[in-house]
Amino acid sequence: MVSRVIPVDLFDLVIFGATGDLAQRKILPGLYRRFHAGQMPEGARIIGAARSDMDAEGFRAQVTKAIADFVDPAKHDAATIAAFLQSLDYVSVDATGEGGWDSLKAKVDPARINAFYFSVAPMLFGPLADRLKAHGIAGDQSRIVVEKPFGRDLASARALNATLAAHFEESQIYRIDHYLGKETVQNLMAVRFANILFEPLWNAQYIDHVQITVAETVGVGGRGSYYDKSGAMRDMVQNHLMQLLCLIAMEPPYHFDPDAVRDEKVKVIRALQPVPAADIVRGQYLGVKATAGRAEQPGYLADSENPDSRTESYIALKVQVANWRWQGTPFYLRTGKRLRGRASEIAITFKAPPHSIFDQEEASWRENVLVIRLQPDEGMNLKVMIKEPGPGGMRLVQVPLDMSFAEALGEDGADIPDAYERLIMDVIRGNQTLFMRGDEVEAAWAWTDPIIAGWEARGDRPRPYDAGSSGPEDALMLMHRDGRRWREIRE
Ligand code: BG6
Repeated sequence: MVSRVIPVDLFDLVIFGATGDLAQRKILPGLYRRFHAGQMPEGARIIGAARSDMDAEGFRAQVTKAIADFVDPAKHDAATIAAFLQSLDYVSVDATGEGGWDSLKAKVDPARINAFYFSVAPMLFGPLADRLKAHGIAGDQSRIVVEKPFGRDLASARALNATLAAHFEESQIYRIDHYLGKETVQNLMAVRFANILFEPLWNAQYIDHVQITVAETVGVGGRGSYYDKSGAMRDMVQNHLMQLLCLIAMEPPYHFDPDAVRDEKVKVIRALQPVPAADIVRGQYLGVKATAGRAEQPGYLADSENPDSRTESYIALKVQVANWRWQGTPFYLRTGKRLRGRASEIAITFKAPPHSIFDQEEASWRENVLVIRLQPDEGMNLKVMIKEPGPGGMRLVQVPLDMSFAEALGEDGADIPDAYERLIMDVIRGNQTLFMRGDEVEAAWAWTDPIIAGWEARGDRPRPYDAGSSGPEDALMLMHRDGRRWREIRE
């Protein structure tokens, strides 16, 4: 199968914060990969903008290193890299002063598509937006791209929305949640709405429960001071896990159109019930001592450099969506750092058939489970019951119908674009489907705020769990008491 790469129209993309970590690790290597794939047209320009005093050559040298460090060596051919570097320019600007803005204006061609990526701290969104408008650099057709965290509560998210709305229409604002750029996340919509198989069963009558897991093996070392003010609820649940939940729970949009899709997601978020304390388990990882085969690993308190931190590096919640489709089907969410394995998946467990004709086999009965693997090894797995082969009566066994996208799609499946490169190309195409709308972010915070306020008011401390485990014991109980079990997190 050969994928079609359709080049986007000519554009000028300005990246504010171009020397920062995200730009160097994700944005610029991603743009190079799109260039290499033939999607970024020659002549398109990427203009790095940051405080550092540097010329275009200095920036090109930085990007050369970023490509060497973060792009697969198979894509390192010298001629393509040289051509890509020619599309780069740099201007030193002062986000809160007047320096550099006239030079930037001279570089951006208003006749092209132009996009401004704010890969900077949210407190700079306002000053940057002011200056882009005051200097006549951004116009009515320009697009701006903003990163998470989009606020830390409803009030700050509203303030950020108001700041951006003072200068730009909602149709010009692209709020990134990189989970929406992941291949399999979009596949959720394809699986649901391009097949007849699942949708008739996609409701509380047939689905027992849904589990969403985003497990990471990394700790917070290196970004402890950001993380300690955030925690797993703000860092992962309010955005990434919420988006996954929305795509599973939403009604079919009337069309695959940005506002039609986002309208349906907002309805899900508004239908989320408040979560009682008994349905929340927070955890914090402990360090592990060195053993023969393994080096010592610091605990959360050392990583965050806050010896009295009550911030959670793990959270599990039981969430109810109060609408006709989902009444009575819980969604169990969990995410954490320093867990046993890196695995992101959604598991949909169906109910048992209403009556078993296989009387003697009841004990071995298993429900159908549809697992959508986001990473690693993107794919889908449907567990079905079949007869165990061989003579000797009717014995049932559960087997997986397993599909790895990499295998099923051949070369194309193995070369799945990174979330950022896909999202940036969507900005250039002017497609907002995979970006969060202002009301969506606010609705997500409106649900999140009382949950956080609840544990802060109670003064709860997170439960300790061993680094390399599956999380705190209490999280197991969250499901056991409902007669259910978490899926195993594999090493
Ligand atoms: C980021 C969070 O948004 O997502 C990080 O801030 C987290 O804490 C990361 O590690 C996970 O992304 P991915 O794509 O590696 O699953």
